[in-house]
Amino acid sequence: RAMDTSAYLKAHIRTVPDWPAPGVQFRDITPLLQDPKVFRVLIDTFVHRYMDRDMRPDVVAGLDARGFIIGSVVAYELGVGFVPIRKKGKLPFTTVEETYELEYGSATVELHTDAVRPGDRVLLIDDLIATGGTMMAGKKLLEKLGATVREGAAIVALPELGGVQRLQQAGLPLFTLVSFE
Ligand code: PRP
Ligand code: ADE
Ligand code: MG
Repeated sequence: RAMDTSAYLKAHIRTVPDWPAPGVQFRDITPLLQDPKVFRVLIDTFVHRYMDRDMRPDVVAGLDARGFIIGSVVAYELGVGFVPIRKKGKLPFTTVEETYELEYGSATVELHTDAVRPGDRVLLIDDLIATGGTMMAGKKLLEKLGATVREGAAIVALPELGGVQRLQQAGLPLFTLVSFE
């Protein structure tokens, strides 16, 4: 390809200013999903990394909601199971839960208690890392059940919001494809 993968993917992310609140630059991944060629490059980039013998997870966990879109396809291609980490009140069976801080207020996510087993090596996937609160909550949930999060993966990192540094300091290796400063 003429462009490298990162630049190619970045060219298909739309920035919407002042959404959902004034001052926020919203990084919209829907154009990237909408173009089948770009969607394939995106998925293949993750699959290529985690197909590797040393990197292959036992299970992929995806974060509600945009993490489901990528996480489930990557799990399918790797031939491993997919487990959803959902916003509170959506999962029907017994759950563990974790509350985390957002820019304004807080949110709670849940995971079924039988979603992973002690010792499972998990790949945790979301679309974007901003403050890192969402991915950190997912990591804590998986660890409550005795699993190990081998790596956190996302399409987009927003390093100026501090999440990348925070997650790395918490001992979570990260793999991201596109960065906006
Ligand atoms: C967005 C995004 C990440 C999270 C990143 O999700 O999809 O999950 O924010 O922010 P953080 O690093 O500061 O936690 P959001 O909760 O807006 O909802 P959605 O995925 O359901 O669209
Ligand atoms: N989630 C948190 N911050 C975001 C942003 N700037 N763009 C898209 N999703 C987000
Ligand atoms: Mg999300």
